[in-house]
Amino acid sequence: MTERHRHKQQVRKAFDSAADSYDRAAAVQREACHRLATLAGATPPSGSVSRILDAGCGTGFGLDLIARAHPEAQVVALDFAPAMLARLRQNSPAAAVAPLCADLEALPLAAGSIDAVWSSLALQWCDPALALAEIARALRPGGIAWIATLGPATLWELREAFARVDEASHVIRFHPPAEWIAAAAKAGLSPVARDLEPAYALAPDLRGLLRDIKAIGAHSVGEQRRRKPLGRAAWRTLEAAYDAHRRPDGLLPATYDLILLALKKSGEIHD
Ligand SMILES: C[S@@+](CC[C@H](N)C(=O)[O-])C[C@H]1O[C@@H](n2cnc3c(N)ncnc32)[C@H](O)[C@@H]1O
Repeated sequence: MTERHRHKQQVRKAFDSAADSYDRAAAVQREACHRLATLAGATPPSGSVSRILDAGCGTGFGLDLIARAHPEAQVVALDFAPAMLARLRQNSPAAAVAPLCADLEALPLAAGSIDAVWSSLALQWCDPALALAEIARALRPGGIAWIATLGPATLWELREAFARVDEASHVIRFHPPAEWIAAAAKAGLSPVARDLEPAYALAPDLRGLLRDIKAIGAHSVGEQRRRKPLGRAAWRTLEAAYDAHRRPDGLLPATYDLILLALKKSGEIHD
């Protein structure tokens, strides 16, 4: 098994275990979905929309937003974590949803079978070239992909604070917008709109911020080079370093460098 496969399995396991706690801690993820819905509303695909893929649907927060905008469409709700999919029905009982447990880097969908793809905060766990090539293959000509992912400034406060403690890498590398756009172009997808405003998770202290990251299943943002728990002195150094970011309202922020893109597959359909 390659290092990449091992990491992917860890990510899947982490999200699977987080299914029960995800909804209560996913404030930034909900904000990303609302912003993505606005972008999607401004960039409809050409032609009719009967099948939409939610790629990395998690507990299904995006499904109602998609169903509200496209009540006539069936939504294929895809995730590789079965426990996340198990929560779909309770979160979106009204949407016409077909759950699908699969890897979004290898979509079990026929070429050209999807009118639009929605993917909120899942693609940062994937290889951009692989994931976007699969999305482009599944889309029909004139179809649109609405993507929310994370850029390099994500959790920069945490990265900076950990740099005071040791030299290990504690936050995975996130790709900048230019890399997503280059991968999209290679896959045959052209950007038609973008929104690059950050969002902020907030908590009274560093423990709270880290607890929320774990509750949404994103603790595998830490690469695997160092897995020993921090000693008491190192924890105090970390807390003091992070405290420099405390806001006037007393809360500590964690930046999520949101990248929202609408990507169109070239070619038109005639209907
Ligand atoms: C942060 S959650 C976002 C969930 C949902 N889209 C939302 O907005 O609340 C990321 C989801 O992507 C899924 N995911 C990550 N990589 C994936 C992959 N390669 N294939 C399928 N699902 C994946 C995870 O299991 C998780 O449920």
